[in-house]
Amino acid sequence: MTLCCAFRWSAVVLMLTCLSGLSGADRRAACPQACNCFPGTVFCSNRRLKAVPKGIPPSGMQRLYLDGNNLTLVPARAFLNYTELTNLDLSNSFIKNMEEGAFMGLNNLRSLKVNNNNMTTLRGSIFQGLYLLKSLNLKTNKLVDIFPEVFQGLYNLEHLYVSENLVNVSTRPFRHLGNLRYLEIKENSLKTLQGYSFQDLRGLYSLDVRANDLQNLEDYAFFGLNSLRNLYLSDNNLTTLGGEVLRTITMSALSEPGSHLYQVNTPGVDLPKHLSSHTNLSHYSSNSDVEADTRSTIGLIDKD
Ligand SMILES: *[C@@H]1O[C@H](CO)[C@@H](O)[C@H](O)[C@H]1NC(C)=O
Ligand SMILES: *[C@@H]1O[C@H](CO)[C@@H](O)[C@H](O)[C@H]1NC(C)=O
Ligand SMILES: *[C@@H]1O[C@H](CO)[C@@H](O)[C@H](O)[C@H]1NC(C)=O
Ligand SMILES: *[C@@H]1O[C@H](CO)[C@@H](O)[C@H](O)[C@H]1NC(C)=O
Ligand SMILES: *[C@@H]1O[C@H](CO)[C@@H](O)[C@H](O)[C@H]1NC(C)=O
Ligand SMILES: *[C@@H]1O[C@H](CO)[C@@H](O)[C@H](O)[C@H]1NC(C)=O
Repeated sequence: MTLCCAFRWSAVVLMLTCLSGLSGADRRAACPQACNCFPGTVFCSNRRLKAVPKGIPPSGMQRLYLDGNNLTLVPARAFLNYTELTNLDLSNSFIKNMEEGAFMGLNNLRSLKVNNNNMTTLRGSIFQGLYLLKSLNLKTNKLVDIFPEVFQGLYNLEHLYVSENLVNVSTRPFRHLGNLRYLEIKENSLKTLQGYSFQDLRGLYSLDVRANDLQNLEDYAFFGLNSLRNLYLSDNNLTTLGGEVLRTITMSALSEPGSHLYQVNTPGVDLPKHLSSHTNLSHYSSNSDVEADTRSTIGLIDKD
């Protein structure tokens, strides 16, 4: 009796091993050679790939890592079949160009990383269809221009990183991002901020324009930023912060306790008392402190 049962059990175990072995082989067969596939995730990082590999199983695939490759171009419809994808990493891949429609079909994408590439311009509605995108990282490219329609349709975007580029925007490309919470345009080539640049950004909590070439801010530059709590202006070349600029700042949430307005080398700016109580104009005026401020994170700054 015990012998018979032990025998039967071992047969079942053998059969199961066989089956799982088969499905494992299937999974390997469905995974491109250059990649490692796990349930929901495909890693194709650092393989010197020149194109998105063919044969990545589309079904159930949520995270795709293509960072550290040599893609140069992201062609239109490159990810058309990956409708379940939520995270796509294309960073560090020598990308110079992304064709219009490159991200077509990615209706569930939440996070897109294209940082550390060689892109010089973004034109067309390149991100159209990414209705659920929450985070877009364009840091450390060579972007000079961002055309006005580029961010259209990113209704759910909350975090946008454009730092370490060469952007000198004159077209107010950010103004339709109604759900944006964090906008980082640190270390670019902004010369001025036009009026109504951030007009519809009613939920923006943090705006970082440190280390640009800002000489002046136009009237109403900060118009509409009703939720702004952290504004970083330091390490620019601002000489005044006058008239309507100041008025829109004082009318924003920045005048509430716990908010922070960071600027440096802005003599002659006479901030109203309720603002200056949590604004320290002299704090970062020595060179070493400017350096420290540029490097510090939002979290660190929030502490004081
Ligand atoms: C990337 O590919 C291009 C040709 O497509 C080649 O000239 C270049 O050397 C490659 N770069 C690297 C780092 O492999
Ligand atoms: C998408 O799927 C279709 C049909 O399964 C296939 O013919 C096509 O090659 C796939 N496209 C890509 C880019 O993988
Ligand atoms: C991308 O930029 C880096 C840094 O400037 C440069 O070394 C590299 O040659 C560029 N690659 C391409 C493909 O243009
Ligand atoms: C930057 O933009 C301003 C305003 O449009 C323009 O006057 C200036 O020439 C631009 N600078 C560069 C270097 O493109
Ligand atoms: C800052 O502005 C002053 C006055 O316009 C100018 O002389 C100086 O060269 C500027 N400095 C930088 C770093 O742009
Ligand atoms: C502003 O910062 C300077 C330098 O850190 C400090 O000496 C001064 O007490 C600060 N002022 C206020 C009002 O916090």
